[in-house]
Amino acid sequence: QAKQHVRIVEVGPRDGLQNEKQSIPVETKIELIRRLATTGLQTIEAGSFVSPKWVPQMANSSHILKHILEDPPSSTEPITYQWLLPNVKGLDKFLSVHGTNNDTAAASSYPTPPPSPTTDTDNGPALNTSSSDANAMPSSTSGTNSTNAPHEISIFLAATESFSQRNTNCSIAESLDRFRPLMAKARDNNHPVRAYISVALGCPYEGPDVSPNRVAELAAELLEMGADEVSVSDTTGMGTAPRTRELLKTLKAAGIINEDIALHFHDTYGQALVNTLVGLEHGITTFDSAVGGLGGCPYSPGATGNVATEDLVHCLHSLGLDTGVDMQRVSEIGEWISEELGRGNESRAGKATMAR
Ligand code: HMG
Ligand code: MG
Repeated sequence: QAKQHVRIVEVGPRDGLQNEKQSIPVETKIELIRRLATTGLQTIEAGSFVSPKWVPQMANSSHILKHILEDPPSSTEPITYQWLLPNVKGLDKFLSVHGTNNDTAAASSYPTPPPSPTTDTDNGPALNTSSSDANAMPSSTSGTNSTNAPHEISIFLAATESFSQRNTNCSIAESLDRFRPLMAKARDNNHPVRAYISVALGCPYEGPDVSPNRVAELAAELLEMGADEVSVSDTTGMGTAPRTRELLKTLKAAGIINEDIALHFHDTYGQALVNTLVGLEHGITTFDSAVGGLGGCPYSPGATGNVATEDLVHCLHSLGLDTGVDMQRVSEIGEWISEELGRGNESRAGKATMAR
């Protein structure tokens, strides 16, 4: 009998790096994405098009997108790249690099790069990082797949007004108003849209008791607006097993099907895998994580990284589930990127795998 598949959305290059204080060379970011593409991961959130005044670390995302389009990382499976953005301005920046895509079918791939943009200022020349890096991993041995799925747009709003103001300088209602034209434009250009609901299990400003009904209402509204998936996010890691269970029950009671939900756990209180188990028992099959446990939201003080991809993969494999991800390879990447950033590797399973 085939093992049940669980989809992992690797958010390390975006959520994992956005909060790092030191500036990270764009070559390192691209190399991280290239390496991740060789692990069997099929979805990678690669950057964000947000205000560079708010999140300076992501300012070179245009450059990264351009690079991926011109020289797609080799991978055994097609990769879906996701790009986080908060408004139409961000989408326009994305489209100015990606090229508009109105005439192509949704399922088309991009065998030839789109025309180079002329309007953007921060996308420099194409880089070729992997070939010049002595430490680079060998390219994927089994095939070099360069035709990828359509790039996806990720949008985000909050389940509390305080977090909404801090993270996006607007109310929740204003976020929804921004999304209507954004979503229409993304869909006109054949880009699927995922929507995050932040602070779904606890808010740094309002505490742990975020209303599950409010989260369900927002999820329903985002799906009705056209989102393909809602990533229910525990930004602060305050989520516990009982409250995760209650939230999932509330979503179900509101008519939201499991296939439309992903879970995004930060591991601040060490509860991410416990909450993952609750999600699995409930029937959720998509989980977000970051290699090396990188990450944190700049507007959530004290919040640490996402659950480490290595920890998630180890846990899912131990349950007899299939992720398609090579544990050894992803552990090597966790070690490598932690060292590049001069920080400790936050993945227990990754460290243990490397110590074997
Ligand atoms: P604002 O200051 O209210 O916006 O920020 P504005 O429209 O007045 O624009 C201010 C300046 O930003 C202007 O530039 C705009 O052009 C520019 P100026 O004229 O002053 O030179 N601007 C932009 N530049 C580039 N790209 C854009 C863009 N939009 C405006 N898209 C805004 C409002 C939403 C833009 C701002 O608050 C922002 O960028 N916030 C993003 C914060 C962020 O990225 N947070 C982290 C990601 S969310 C997260 O991590 C949670 C998640 O992981 C799930 C979870 O764990 O909860 C997804
Ligand atoms: Mg996050």
